[in-house]
Amino acid sequence: MGTSEIVAIFDTTLRDGAQSPGAAMTIEEKIRVADQLVALQVDVIEAGFPASSPDDMASVREIARRVKGVAVAALARAVTSDIDMAWEAVREAERPIIHVSLATSDIHLQHKLRISREEALQRAKTMVARARSYCPTVEFSAEDATRSDRDFLCRLFEVVISEGATIINVPDTVGYTMPGEYEDLFRYLRAHVQGIEHITLSAHCHDDLGMATANTLAATRGGARQVEVTINGIGERAGNTALEEIVMALRTRYDAFHIDTRVKTEYLLEASQMLSQFTGIPVQPNKAIVGLNAFTHQDGVLKHRQTYEIMNPQSIGWGDMNLVLGKHSGRHGLDARLRLLGYRLSAEQLKEAYKSFVAMAEQQKAVSDDALIYIAECMQETP
Ligand code: KIV
Ligand code: ZN
Repeated sequence: MGTSEIVAIFDTTLRDGAQSPGAAMTIEEKIRVADQLVALQVDVIEAGFPASSPDDMASVREIARRVKGVAVAALARAVTSDIDMAWEAVREAERPIIHVSLATSDIHLQHKLRISREEALQRAKTMVARARSYCPTVEFSAEDATRSDRDFLCRLFEVVISEGATIINVPDTVGYTMPGEYEDLFRYLRAHVQGIEHITLSAHCHDDLGMATANTLAATRGGARQVEVTINGIGERAGNTALEEIVMALRTRYDAFHIDTRVKTEYLLEASQMLSQFTGIPVQPNKAIVGLNAFTHQDGVLKHRQTYEIMNPQSIGWGDMNLVLGKHSGRHGLDARLRLLGYRLSAEQLKEAYKSFVAMAEQQKAVSDDALIYIAECMQETP
């Protein structure tokens, strides 16, 4: 990684991700996800939204007490009781963050909050000041920023900066923006908001038009130095920006972005599979980086890896091609290895292949890739 500039990874799997229907997790599961995020070396774990339920309050508090070396954030709407509860939940963290959110687009102000722009300004000011009276790090999010009036957004950001906000988040709440537009918004804010040079600008994207990763990367070109992401891109509706996509895009195309993250990529696959197991939300086979087919190739790869591989699968946690499969290897391990070798068997074929594999493994301590290819070829010949 050397001395490259770093963009902070703010993981919101346990808040924006877990808030989506069907992604509920137990407190124990949330703690295991938090531990995995620490292993990944993300910069911030947004552990939840304490005012939303007693369970969230309990899990955020527990994660805040437990996590070392990574900041822990709690979400609060711009109302007194939310901010007090968020502080209550994160106050024991080594590096606590209160994350205050208020909608700024006219459509949200009129139809959701039923307040005027002036009232929104006043509310943002008082609530950020309150959060800052508790906590040295306060993030302010302008919900629906990408559909907000730019001049109003600038005024509001100036107000919250003067009240002590340290991170300004510019969410594309409804997944509406396009890469060039989002990059331009960040540049505009940097040029027009007084005091912004001392602030960390953050990008937070939703994937309604399939643009979340592209938009988040564009924001980094516009000056964002924090990106908000979730494991597997889980989140409301079409989801949030996927952590693994951003991390691997920046690592693989350093030539294009000249920034990197601190993430230990070898834990990405484990994080993906853990979350899928806990939430019951499957990872689509063709999902970038962590989908089962992400590194399944034509046989070209066997001749020369770089014909089809732009990333080393082992750097993400995929099976080690040098690791020997033996009698203790499971069916999933066999499947993963066969996929790396370019074979994708049906469930039925895999069951049969596993029987042959076990029989072979009983006789010879290690089963070579050649033997695995032989087994796979036999299965494919079977009608
Ligand atoms: O999408 C959004 O606007 C949010 C904010 C609370 C940051 O999740
Ligand atoms: Zn969101």
